[in-house]
Amino acid sequence: MITIRPETHRDIPIIEALTLIAFKDHPHQDPQKGTVEHLIIYQLRQAKALTISLVATENNQVVGHIAFSPITIDGKDDKWFVLAPVSVLPSHQKQGIGKALIQAGLQQLKDQNANGCVVLGEPDYYQKFGFQAQSALVVDGVPQEYFMAQTLCDETIPHGTVQFHPAFSV
Ligand SMILES: CC(C)(COP(=O)(O)OP(=O)(O)OC[C@H]1O[C@@H](n2cnc3c(N)ncnc32)[C@H](O)[C@@H]1OP(=O)(O)O)[C@@H](O)C(=O)NCCC(=O)NCCS
Repeated sequence: MITIRPETHRDIPIIEALTLIAFKDHPHQDPQKGTVEHLIIYQLRQAKALTISLVATENNQVVGHIAFSPITIDGKDDKWFVLAPVSVLPSHQKQGIGKALIQAGLQQLKDQNANGCVVLGEPDYYQKFGFQAQSALVVDGVPQEYFMAQTLCDETIPHGTVQFHPAFSV
């Protein structure tokens, strides 16, 4: 059975290894930099910007992880967040673990009165969770078709330029 819970101190090196394995040879990786997702999580945690960090466990073994951190829109912190990164061990993929992590994370954001969430990734995958391509929000240097958002409150999606936490610039 899969359990979703917040990370603990003991999970930290396991999350790092899991993220490295899941993102190794990722098709959208910058070949100059190699895998950076585990470094992003580390930097977010150091900067106390890891708003939500959940692990999926099976038989007490960590098999998946998801992180959410704050973004700004036109420089303002308006309780919007980015889902990134999400990883499932290759041996455990396509069993619904990614889905369980994303749904649990979005629910936690709603419980914290977040206004919305953005994500960068495969539209076919993220549309299943309520994310939609839109033109109101833009991120410099990112193909718009891979950038999606959803509101988590009654308000419409704001207009503006999104900035991720500096941890994403590793
Ligand atoms: C992306 C990832 C987290 C998905 O985790 P997962 O546990 O395999 O996904 P799930 O089994 O929960 O899949 C949920 C649904 O999405 C579908 N799906 C899975 N991967 C998909 C993909 N790459 N593209 C489109 N749909 C996908 C599944 O078929 C399933 O559909 P269903 O609910 O209709 O049956 C996992 O493949 C992974 O760790 N990949 C490497 C790291 C990565 O790319 N992270 C995302 C970066 S944006």
